[in-house]
Amino acid sequence: MTSETKLSICVVGGTGAEGGGLALRWAKAGHRVTIGSRDPAKAEAAAKALNELLGREALTGVASADGAAEAEVVVLTVPFAAQRSTLEGLKDTLAGKILVDVTVPLVPPKVARVQLPETDSCVVATQAFLGEGVRVVSAFQNVSAHKLKDLGHDAIDCDVLIAGDDKEARKVVAGLAADAGLRGVEVGPLANSVVAEALTSVLIWINRTYKVPDSGIRITGLPGGTPAAE
Ligand SMILES: NC(=O)c1ccc[n+]([C@@H]2O[C@H](COP(=O)([O-])OP(=O)(O)OC[C@H]3O[C@@H](n4cnc5c(N)ncnc54)[C@H](OP(=O)(O)O)[C@@H]3O)[C@@H](O)[C@H]2O)c1
Repeated sequence: MTSETKLSICVVGGTGAEGGGLALRWAKAGHRVTIGSRDPAKAEAAAKALNELLGREALTGVASADGAAEAEVVVLTVPFAAQRSTLEGLKDTLAGKILVDVTVPLVPPKVARVQLPETDSCVVATQAFLGEGVRVVSAFQNVSAHKLKDLGHDAIDCDVLIAGDDKEARKVVAGLAADAGLRGVEVGPLANSVVAEALTSVLIWINRTYKVPDSGIRITGLPGGTPAAE
């Protein structure tokens, strides 16, 4: 089910491919979206390029700390190597908010090989670092930026797994998945995020082996549309 209310969202790292794609789709769905960056000028340039794709002035670019302070939902889309340092700069700002962590613990150059960190899930590590005052939700690790940026297809042929310890926050993110044209499937507690995090390397391997740009996943056996979890 799509979101009932329009949210203010800051996509930290939205200057990159994945965050830019998510930001584009949420702006299209009517949410108030800012692109967050370490460099406000880079954020403004990224927002301008996304507005051109969208065909209207909807997105703005800001310093990540400013965007996160204003937003109800903050979305983290940075490389694994930058995950902790980025969160360190935002920790105080995130109190009381939902943080959607999209980070995949890829370790270049062997990105087609699952290499989980010592903590297993890097999103569980985010929750431990931020503490209980931030509702961390894991999602969107298995949808390619390429699919997100293609506004020619409203519905994306891919499910995303949504894990989080706070049920209400999971439902907000399920709505955001639907708003982005995806089927979001709730998969329970944040500990289950590790499956989505590991799956990305498998999909990269499939892409290379079968010579396709963006393989994805489908959960079978569910009723049609976006399933509502109890
Ligand atoms: N690309 C995909 O198709 C895809 C699919 C699924 C999941 N993911 C995951 O989503 C996340 C983002 O992917 P992406 O491809 O969009 O990444 P990206 O383009 O390499 O980086 C995104 C942004 O992160 C910031 N960043 C990069 N290196 C940094 C560093 N060393 N320190 C601090 N910030 C840094 C930059 O923002 P500023 O310079 O503006 O601060 C950059 O624009 C990753 O964890 C990735 O594994 C990606």
